[in-house]
Amino acid sequence: MRGLALVTGVSSSPGYKIALRLASAGWEVLGVYNQHPVGGISAVRWDLAAGARELVRRYKPALIIHAAAIGDVDRCETEPQLCYLVNVVATREIASEAYRVGARVVYISTDYVFPGDRGLYREDDPPRPVNYYGLTKLLGEEAVLAVGGAVVRTAWIYGLGPGRLNFGRAVVERLSRGEEVRAVADQWGSPTLNTLLAEAVAKLAEREHSGVLHAAGPRMSRYEFALAIAEAFGLPRELVKPISMSEVGYRAPRPRDSSLVSRRAVEMLGVPIDNIDYALSIFKREWVEQRHAAG
Ligand SMILES: NC(=O)c1ccc[n+]([C@@H]2O[C@H](COP(=O)([O-])OP(=O)(O)OC[C@H]3O[C@@H](n4cnc5c(N)ncnc54)[C@H](OP(=O)(O)O)[C@@H]3O)[C@@H](O)[C@H]2O)c1
Repeated sequence: MRGLALVTGVSSSPGYKIALRLASAGWEVLGVYNQHPVGGISAVRWDLAAGARELVRRYKPALIIHAAAIGDVDRCETEPQLCYLVNVVATREIASEAYRVGARVVYISTDYVFPGDRGLYREDDPPRPVNYYGLTKLLGEEAVLAVGGAVVRTAWIYGLGPGRLNFGRAVVERLSRGEEVRAVADQWGSPTLNTLLAEAVAKLAEREHSGVLHAAGPRMSRYEFALAIAEAFGLPRELVKPISMSEVGYRAPRPRDSSLVSRRAVEMLGVPIDNIDYALSIFKREWVEQRHAAG
């Protein structure tokens, strides 16, 4: 046993995959959820908006993976107080208590700390968020870095598991039913498979690395990503239709190109997280296995 690992946001797709991966590597894992209980992992309910200090004091973990957040970008715009409490105040409390109990913290952050004016951002490029979600995540990063923790910036997470329906899963579901997929062609990011992110985070957790690391897929538009999914799953490409960002009606401003360069993580951790063919082959295998398991 490697000690206790607390995983907040265990009811999100990345949090759940990270918890499973750490458990299989010999950690005693305790997940933290708020509104959505999960199966298969031992977990406690804790509302981080009501405070996080006592959570860390009570369990005194050796490792904290802090993946919980108000991750809905538009919701952060309409409910800024809740977003601030969860993304900033709770993260500050987790970071300072982790320091007191000697826990290592790995914070899951986002490409949305960048303005999106040029893309292919590296770890030392200056952040400048264009929406409230990005600002709160940047303040969370600063709290974790101040206590010597690690920040993993990722992006456009897709894959199986609990949490909100992600774009990758929606594309497979819609194309499998013969339905059209409208995908934005003039916005770029780095679609990231949750399974590979979990692998990278688990490997990082074993090291003393502190500071920022980018761990995400390659630069693509959502349209290119949807076409790549259709190709990998043998689904009809012609059902994928390009649209522009202006047709979506986002409430919060979005960076136009927030793609990340993850070369440092690939070299350091040996996880080919930026290889889309590899990622989609894993996604497809998991999809097929889940369908077989469901009978
Ligand atoms: N989605 C992406 O593409 C993306 C990209 C880059 C970074 N990230 C980061 O990845 C992490 C997960 O994001 P997601 O979009 O996958 O999340 P999500 O599906 O919206 O889930 C958010 C998670 O945070 C938990 N949470 C929210 N409010 C909470 C509270 N008051 N107390 C305790 N837990 C609370 C939720 O628990 P319940 O559901 O149980 O309430 C859930 O587990 C976040 O840190 C996000 O910033 C996501």
